[in-house]
Amino acid sequence: MSVIFAVLFSQLNVIVSVAGVAVGVDFGAISTRVAVVMRDGGLPYLHPNALGARSMPSLIGFGDRGERLVGERADMAACISCVFHGARDLLGLPATAMTRAWGYAFFKYNLTTVPERRTPLLVSLTGKNFLPEEVGAMLLKEAVKDFAGEAAGQAGGPRVAVAVPPQWTQRRRQALIDACNIAGLNLTSIISDHAAAALQYGVEQPLRKGERRRTVLIVGLGATSGYAAIVRYSAYTAKVNPGGRGRPSAAVSVPYIAVKRIAWEEGVGGWHMDALLAKHLAGQAEAGGACSAAPSPAGGCIGPRAMSRLLAAARKAREVLSVNTEAAAQVTDLVPGRDFSTTVTRAQFEDLAREIVERAAKPAARVLRSYPAGIDAIELVGGASRTPLFQALLRQAVSAATGRDLPLGRHVNTDEAVALGAALRAANVTAAVKDGRAPPRAALQDISPFTLGGRRQRRARPRRRRHPGLEDRFHRQRHARP
Ligand SMILES: Nc1ncnc2c1ncn2[C@@H]1O[C@H](COP(=O)(O)OP(=O)(O)OP(=O)(O)O)[C@@H](O)[C@H]1O
Ligand SMILES: [Mg+2]
Repeated sequence: MSVIFAVLFSQLNVIVSVAGVAVGVDFGAISTRVAVVMRDGGLPYLHPNALGARSMPSLIGFGDRGERLVGERADMAACISCVFHGARDLLGLPATAMTRAWGYAFFKYNLTTVPERRTPLLVSLTGKNFLPEEVGAMLLKEAVKDFAGEAAGQAGGPRVAVAVPPQWTQRRRQALIDACNIAGLNLTSIISDHAAAALQYGVEQPLRKGERRRTVLIVGLGATSGYAAIVRYSAYTAKVNPGGRGRPSAAVSVPYIAVKRIAWEEGVGGWHMDALLAKHLAGQAEAGGACSAAPSPAGGCIGPRAMSRLLAAARKAREVLSVNTEAAAQVTDLVPGRDFSTTVTRAQFEDLAREIVERAAKPAARVLRSYPAGIDAIELVGGASRTPLFQALLRQAVSAATGRDLPLGRHVNTDEAVALGAALRAANVTAAVKDGRAPPRAALQDISPFTLGGRRQRRARPRRRRHPGLEDRFHRQRHARP
């Protein structure tokens, strides 16, 4: 059923007067990022963790003595069957979702089904079994603790907004709410990736003087999926009372950010490209005689451990291929006593990944077709949007749909925009906002073809609606689900 979800976003300026801290989490399939707004206000920022990193791999594992390994430490775990990869994408989905969402059975922990709940159970080799909500809770808790630092320790905890891909249904979002409850997080809002990115773009590229409106195509490509959203930036005049009491006394111009169209494609992210390249490298290694030292009875010798190392090498090579025309892929001791080394060219990679990349560019073509009013600019977000073939196909799609050759904008931080936008959203849901003490500065209207909005979200909405900037805005997406 197609219904209505609205993210109210008003009073961006509240971040300068926010009473408590707010945290935005970009809960990615591969990496999780956390942006923070401190008690004394200011724009959100990403704090490096103890390792100096600004993102954390979305991995949970268990060491020999059963100790919990999170992020980088799980990535380095000796036992690859004890590490849960891709657990985020099991939230609220049946056990078969792992193959559906990721497409490849590269992950070596087992999944079973809890019959009474019909949800998957992640089974690690150490004998520890977890529901996806429990794994999600561990990840979110650790990420917030790791990155929000001082913020996480404050009484009541920081207010948290979590960004998830636009295709997440109510059921998946409810599973995320459950995970946040298990983690003890003060979840105030779940925001879609494109809406968070749109907010951050609005902060970094506000309308210029005399510019009445701007329509931007925001295109995201992450590790597992891609989306395209048409977002219109404009402004309206609102009467506000800066003091929060009595009648409205001042008129201010409120930026208004409206998502007009959204479309997505699953199974087309950087991870899927890595999987293709890793399979290609495995074929090369076997053809090069890697298995002569240690053949397996089933033929070939590239087991799970070797494959996971090839995946890591493929990812490195693919990322380098975004700037160079060739890259080395090397794995020391791929199989006992055999190193593997080869060179991959960009042309080879593009031949392998063309089908995936073509699908990744489709959401943009879809939204443009359904929005005849046209666009003024394009903005890219998500790590895999750096892929040159993706950029070329995207430009082709835009030029075919609009007849214009628009440049691909990179005004926001490609990797961090979603976390920063989510933190803005979290900062918005404060007592100051609810009491209407701060004047409205921006409103965001999002759309979704799904029924959305959890209990926590409804509670988080302001009850009293004093001026337009505080109204919940509901909107129905006019085109069918992509
Ligand atoms: N220079 C680059 N060229 C190509 N791909 C890159 C580059 N840098 C990062 N990536 C890819 O971007 C992906 C990670 O992007 P991002 O952090 O946006 O994904 P995510 O949020 O974890 O996943 P999702 O959005 O699907 O949930 C990885 O697949 C990574 O290899
Ligand atoms: Mg992402």
